[in-house]
Amino acid sequence: MENNLSAYWMGFTANRQFKQSPRMFTKSKGMFYYTPENLEVMDSIAGLWCVNAGHCHSKIVSAVQQQVAELDYSPAFQMGHPKAFELANRLTNLLPNSLQHVFYTGSGSESVETALKIALAYHRAKGQGQKTLLIGRERAYHGVNFGGMSVGGMVANRKMFANLLGNVDHLPHTHDISKNAFSRGLPSHGMEKADVLNDLLNLHDPSTVAAVIVEPIAGSAGVLLPPKGYLEKLRAICDQHDILLIFDEVITGFGRLGDSFATNYFGVIPDILTTAKGLTNGTVPMGAVMISDEIYQAFMHGPEHTVELFHGYTFSGHPLACAAALAALDVYEEEKLFQRQDGIYQYWEDAMHSMMNLPFVIDIRNLGLIGAIELEPVAGSPGKRAFQAFLNAYEAGLLIRTTGDTIAFSPPLIIEKQHIDRLVETVSKVLKHLT
Ligand SMILES: Cc1ncc(COP(=O)(O)O)c(C=O)c1O
Repeated sequence: MENNLSAYWMGFTANRQFKQSPRMFTKSKGMFYYTPENLEVMDSIAGLWCVNAGHCHSKIVSAVQQQVAELDYSPAFQMGHPKAFELANRLTNLLPNSLQHVFYTGSGSESVETALKIALAYHRAKGQGQKTLLIGRERAYHGVNFGGMSVGGMVANRKMFANLLGNVDHLPHTHDISKNAFSRGLPSHGMEKADVLNDLLNLHDPSTVAAVIVEPIAGSAGVLLPPKGYLEKLRAICDQHDILLIFDEVITGFGRLGDSFATNYFGVIPDILTTAKGLTNGTVPMGAVMISDEIYQAFMHGPEHTVELFHGYTFSGHPLACAAALAALDVYEEEKLFQRQDGIYQYWEDAMHSMMNLPFVIDIRNLGLIGAIELEPVAGSPGKRAFQAFLNAYEAGLLIRTTGDTIAFSPPLIIEKQHIDRLVETVSKVLKHLT
């Protein structure tokens, strides 16, 4: 029977365009996807920033296979299974000492909702129930649920839904190509954008503010890097006013920058940290929120038979996800994928910036194994030029991801120099033929 493609309403997809000319994958291995016709497509985005150890890694595959035959599901409330505790310990060992507790979720969006709820409940537990304001940032992406969408700052994701959380404000974004175009690594200009937090605190009064949430590097809005000193400044201002700092590390976690997490890379420690994606190498859906001991202890009061936090998901700490995550952490460690020692980061940076003179390129940015090429938009049709580049790259055997008019690269961390060369060659051809 022929499948009716319209039955599946695809998320964040141009459904009508896709269904006229579908792009399907039926197999994957290492750096590559394969179409039903067995055409090879190189993956320059690790699926969606998640398959950090490469596709169908045999260790992760067999860990999930074994787990599903042994313990398929275990209730997430009032019951446990050993791997969930083992994983929590493995995760906290990767993080600064203050982040000692892990709350499991099923995705990045759920991690963000969990973090925001814990922030509000924490202040209330401390008798500061008036601290309810949440501060996000323009052009931020914190997933698609109501809390994350509200603190997020991607206009297209917000304007369709109108009914956002009320008690929210936003910092300005830090992207400024008039001063920082073609920066290698962190941009030099823009640290003062963090001072706007002081202005917002003056406006609202710090005693009403619960938390500030930022992505250390904004990915979905087009790879926006923090100016030098910016994250440190946010941390200092939050400390001064008893405001929680939340880092959304859904894309920066698990080796993307050349360290396990952005908090370690930047040496700036949040009170709450959200992750997902690379946690299981993308194999099984899972997210996690790391929480400071101070926050956790604020809830551990009252009669011992009572629930301390009225929050959780049926699939929190799912056994298959835990098995996948434990195997993924083993692979990351064994293959030293968090900190490659073979000059790959420099090779990547040079390769990215080698494309600066191609047609329509107005900026190139990079850090760790992240890269972005910003294109000049077609007048009156934002996003059109980059979307055409995406379609043409796919035809040429390369999977890229575009957001607005930016092409964002986040390859599996197993990428080798020959793959980088192939990426540059394909992207160069694609851009030269764009109109
Ligand atoms: C920083 C950030 N937060 C949250 C999310 C949402 O994650 P998910 O799609 O797993 O819900 C994403 C997804 O790209 C993200 O980049």
